[in-house]
Amino acid sequence: MIVLGIETSCDETGIALYSGADGLLAHRLHSQVDTHARYGGVVPELASRDHIRRVLPLIDECLRDAGLERGAIDGIAYTRGPGLAGALLVGASIARSLGWALERPVLGVHHMEAHLLAPMLEPDPPCYPFVALLVSGGHTLLVQVAGIGRYRVLGESLDDAAGEAFDKTAKLLGLPYPGGLQLEALAAQGEPDQFRLPRPMTDRPGFDFSFSGLKTAVVNCVREAIDDAPTRAAVARAFQDAVVETFAIKTRRALVHTGAGHLVVAGGVGANQALRERLREVAAEHGAQVAYPRLAFCTDNGAMIAYAGFCRLAAGECDEGRVDVRPRWPLSELLAPGEGPAAS
Ligand code: KG4
Ligand code: ZN
Repeated sequence: MIVLGIETSCDETGIALYSGADGLLAHRLHSQVDTHARYGGVVPELASRDHIRRVLPLIDECLRDAGLERGAIDGIAYTRGPGLAGALLVGASIARSLGWALERPVLGVHHMEAHLLAPMLEPDPPCYPFVALLVSGGHTLLVQVAGIGRYRVLGESLDDAAGEAFDKTAKLLGLPYPGGLQLEALAAQGEPDQFRLPRPMTDRPGFDFSFSGLKTAVVNCVREAIDDAPTRAAVARAFQDAVVETFAIKTRRALVHTGAGHLVVAGGVGANQALRERLREVAAEHGAQVAYPRLAFCTDNGAMIAYAGFCRLAAGECDEGRVDVRPRWPLSELLAPGEGPAAS
């Protein structure tokens, strides 16, 4: 079965073709970073308009890369949510129209489920059950995963998502949007321990996170330090160290609590090298194996949507024929493939 994946939930148009027999056949991405950078954040209307321009040409490029015609597509998966409503509607409308024209099944997939399954595209995929730390621009979740669609959310952020905290802190430090990667580069030049920021909510039991207080702590440092480059780097370092150590503490707790032998780290912040290294140590302490998607599949991409869609379409799941998006969609509402259509 060959599945076309369409990702349009935010500021990246991602398209891919995944084959059950041969794995990933092709993937293409168009990033809108240049469009939004001058506004310091994503402008939803501009995002939707750009997705409209990009989706069909990128599909044609993927088909060309894979040496296939449109008729070779057996099923179509698109991101139904969570994400920006207008941006999601672009992917949903095109997926639905193609499905109608080609007479193929269409399925709306959950963006965070797709992030969670992204390491399955790598040569050494994790085994169920595993703990997943999902850290993206919109979500921060610690999840106990028994199988596809069998998720128990152990904890989540009560306020800002991890990526959002990176982006806001980067902005405070004068770095361009999106700031995660830039902040990581600045932190690499910073002296450790010049500033010490709190490790939020680690002093109480449970798995929830809170990053808005950390941002306030950064504001206080930046007030003194903004003009001085080494000090800015030290603030970036202190922020990153605080986030990484908070994730290390909560992830260790989740591994102990669940006894899982595998850890998955996915989502845009999962591209952060300091986080990857620290969580590798945490997993090793517990004899657990850690699985990361390749860097390009940490941030938004079409491959993870094609793969998640494949897993469910191959099990016979498919949507009714309407254009359907869910800008807010809790991961805990999902069912295992075969237990019914994805919740709508
Ligand atoms: O998963 P993603 O591409 O989009 C969402 O689903 O939200 O995540 C984007 C987020 C942004 O906040 C970005 O700044 C952050 O991931 N990010 C990073 C790094 N690369 C991307 N944060 C920290 N370190 C990085 N290397
Ligand atoms: Zn994402």
